[in-house]
Amino acid sequence: MTSVAIVTGASSGIGAATARRLAAEGFHVLAAARRAERLADLVAEITAAGGQATAVTCDITSDESVATLAEAAAQAPGPVTLLVNNAGGARGLDPVESGSVADWQWMYDINVLGTLRVIQALLPALEASGSGTIVVVSSTAGLTVYEGGGGYTAAKHAQTAIAGTLRLELCGRPLRVIEIDPGMVKTDEFGLVRFEGDAERAAAVYAGVPGPLVAEDVADCIAWCATRPEHVNIDRLVVRPRAQAAQHKVHRVSQ
Ligand SMILES: NC(=O)c1ccc[n+]([C@@H]2O[C@H](COP(=O)([O-])OP(=O)(O)OC[C@H]3O[C@@H](n4cnc5c(N)ncnc54)[C@H](OP(=O)(O)O)[C@@H]3O)[C@@H](O)[C@H]2O)c1
Repeated sequence: MTSVAIVTGASSGIGAATARRLAAEGFHVLAAARRAERLADLVAEITAAGGQATAVTCDITSDESVATLAEAAAQAPGPVTLLVNNAGGARGLDPVESGSVADWQWMYDINVLGTLRVIQALLPALEASGSGTIVVVSSTAGLTVYEGGGGYTAAKHAQTAIAGTLRLELCGRPLRVIEIDPGMVKTDEFGLVRFEGDAERAAAVYAGVPGPLVAEDVADCIAWCATRPEHVNIDRLVVRPRAQAAQHKVHRVSQ
């Protein structure tokens, strides 16, 4: 029977690339996000390529909406063996001194509580499959801090803490927890969301960087980790572009 993979934040960037990749690997993908039209386009694309996918409109900040995702998982055409918690994002680049409480709240809600809510709702189905994998897409921002990144790094550190804690708590059950921590990934919307639609500011993040990661690179890491034999747990995979040795050490060529 076809295994089912759930990907949150599948309407763009890393989530969309992961949905495409997992469908190509033979999973039936439940592609979840808020924007139904984009999900419908993605499902049509996957289906045209010979894969299987279903769109599930879902807001991970809502209990009711996440319950709908769990219902869709219960009706999916196979055991739910993989959950990729990818939905997330950043807002603002303000110092702690003047950061917006609303931005911090948004980041905590989506990255931390959203991930928690989805894991809680899907864990029974993952365990019932006999061998479930939970992937948490955190960030190198979950491992280190940087100036202006206080709200995002706080949320990603908390998301990383969920992955580590859950691995301890689930030990002995047929479930594994994998944390993926990407560095700089050039996706279309991440920077636009962070800078409230300011395309110039968003583009400046990647200016002159030879070869930032792209969404497909991260999807490749997720697919590799998730398709190892079931007794193998890749606890954490940190992936950065070659040009980014650390958060503060980015090679740029003048343009
Ligand atoms: N880009 C980077 O440099 C980078 C680096 C490290 C880690 N990451 C992490 O990787 C993940 C994906 O990033 P990305 O670059 O692909 O960003 P993105 O293109 O902005 O994707 C974010 C996704 O999350 C979904 N989303 C937002 N709010 C949601 C909600 N309330 N409920 C359900 N879905 C929601 C969005 O879809 P809808 O708007 O349709 O809901 C979208 O599909 C995030 O967790 C991010 O923190 C990114």
